[in-house]
Amino acid sequence: MNRKEFFKWTAAFIGGLALPIELRPVDFRLLKDLAAAGDDDALWQMVRDQFLLDPEWTYLNFGGLGACPLPVLNSIMEWTRSEERAPSAGHDEKEWWRAKEKLAALLGKNCSKEDIGLISGATEGVNVIINGLPLKRGDEVITSTHEHVAVNAGLLNRMQRDGIVIRLFDPDLKSGLGNVDRIARLINNRTRLILISHVTCTTGQRFPEKEISKLAREKGIWFALDGAQGPVCVPFDIVECGVDFYTASTHKWVMAPKRTGFLYVRQGLLDTLRPIVAGGYTTEKNDIGKGEMVLHPTAQRYEYGTQNDALFFALGKAVDFVETIGVDRIWQHNHALAERFYRGLKEIPGVEIMSPEEEAYRSPMISFRMKTHEYSKVNEHLSKDKLRVRSVGEGGLNCIRVSFHICNHDGDVTKILESLKKLAG
Ligand SMILES: Cc1ncc(COP(=O)(O)O)c(C=O)c1O
Repeated sequence: MNRKEFFKWTAAFIGGLALPIELRPVDFRLLKDLAAAGDDDALWQMVRDQFLLDPEWTYLNFGGLGACPLPVLNSIMEWTRSEERAPSAGHDEKEWWRAKEKLAALLGKNCSKEDIGLISGATEGVNVIINGLPLKRGDEVITSTHEHVAVNAGLLNRMQRDGIVIRLFDPDLKSGLGNVDRIARLINNRTRLILISHVTCTTGQRFPEKEISKLAREKGIWFALDGAQGPVCVPFDIVECGVDFYTASTHKWVMAPKRTGFLYVRQGLLDTLRPIVAGGYTTEKNDIGKGEMVLHPTAQRYEYGTQNDALFFALGKAVDFVETIGVDRIWQHNHALAERFYRGLKEIPGVEIMSPEEEAYRSPMISFRMKTHEYSKVNEHLSKDKLRVRSVGEGGLNCIRVSFHICNHDGDVTKILESLKKLAG
């Protein structure tokens, strides 16, 4: 933020002064009307105006770190202010459950608020899954070579401590369904869990969640998805996809505050997945004198301790923002930009596309590398042109990942393609 913007923004918050026009959070009724009117240009312009993103930069990394729109930022401030005025322990239960209710609706028509625990993000969620399941020495877990460090470190930690065995497969980038076969080949009578990304952070590949779920169910294996790149990034229904456990960070595609996320547990499995941190909110009742404890009967059992509840109330606002525009509309917008970029990359000499060959398994994140330039050099070059992307070192891929979200437009696709053409010479 430059000096001018800083003062403008600070003024906007101090003492509830009238907000400068360009920092005024959009009225959701207006946004809804615009979305219904079908005027794409006007809608996306209004959406873009809701972000503080530095106009000098083209931000193409929502897959790395999301940005909050003004209604969400305002919500954090409003809740924080009212709490600081009259500090009181615990959180407003009604508002807390309202946030869960909204999130559950976003995740699909059959998901209920009781299936969701509000946690800090995917790193915490995968660690609850890895450490909360009753895995013993020699039990095998299948995962891919394209996972985030949250999954890798979580699994290695349990391997070092308890002797679980990690079985790896290289994602099939040619055939989405080929991944089901690759997983099936690793299954034996010691396999207990399949834990993979919903959408990988490396190439933006979407795994065929329904088919893997079916396989896992047939074999009596738990199936968990690391959905850090799932909700709002790709359309899906959490209950219909049949997954047992699902976790996500909502700061990315949902555009909620940082350090918000959730853990979903399929109905009937709460007692299978033990909380790994317990405290206030985890239990329905506990009596240390009698040595008794009853865990909370919902996924609240994965919550504990004092919360920065303003963040989670603002998560509810982020869901409102997304729903007002429409998840399908957002998907169509982001997908169209990503596909135009994908096609454009094919025209640039020396570019090797790393994202899946089948469109159905691609997401709004596209990865590539250049035969002529090392990936760090490509990123340096793009930075000079003020394009913010993410380098991917995971799985030894050494490539660049470009994410397209609601703040982006056709001009951004043109800009990055032109920049890459310049580099390619
Ligand atoms: C696939 C995947 N899993 C887990 C994480 C970790 O998310 P967080 O740092 O928000 O916990 C990320 C973050 O980029 C990710 O892409």
